[in-house]
Amino acid sequence: MSSADIYKEIILDYYRNPRNFGKMEKFDSSARDSNPLCGDEIEMQVKFEGSKISEVRFVGRGCAISQASASMLTELAKGKDVEWVKNLSKDDILKMLGNPDLGPSRIKCALLGMKVLKQAVYSYAASKTEV
Ligand code: FES
Repeated sequence: MSSADIYKEIILDYYRNPRNFGKMEKFDSSARDSNPLCGDEIEMQVKFEGSKISEVRFVGRGCAISQASASMLTELAKGKDVEWVKNLSKDDILKMLGNPDLGPSRIKCALLGMKVLKQAVYSYAASKTEV
């Protein structure tokens, strides 16, 4: 099996058995967004301890890449701080997914979770700096 095949299997596994899927009753911030091309959605809820993410969960519907990418990101983001999320880039997400060969519309799928996590974290950070 090539490493591309292994990553494909991993993506499918996260799609079929998404980690951190479901809603929390109490959380500090949340965000939701969709891919305008297909209507697929991701919603994330985030709990913080100080500036660190203590828990993050998501719900959504959509293609394997959008859902797997969001799920993997929730695992990576636990314990990380606001700055880590702010610095997350497209390249970080593609690396997390094993650098798959994606066209422009599929890249939007892969980045949807990151977009939503950033929105949730930015709105939390903004609420902490308001006077
Ligand atoms: Fe909709 Fe991928 S096809 S997010």
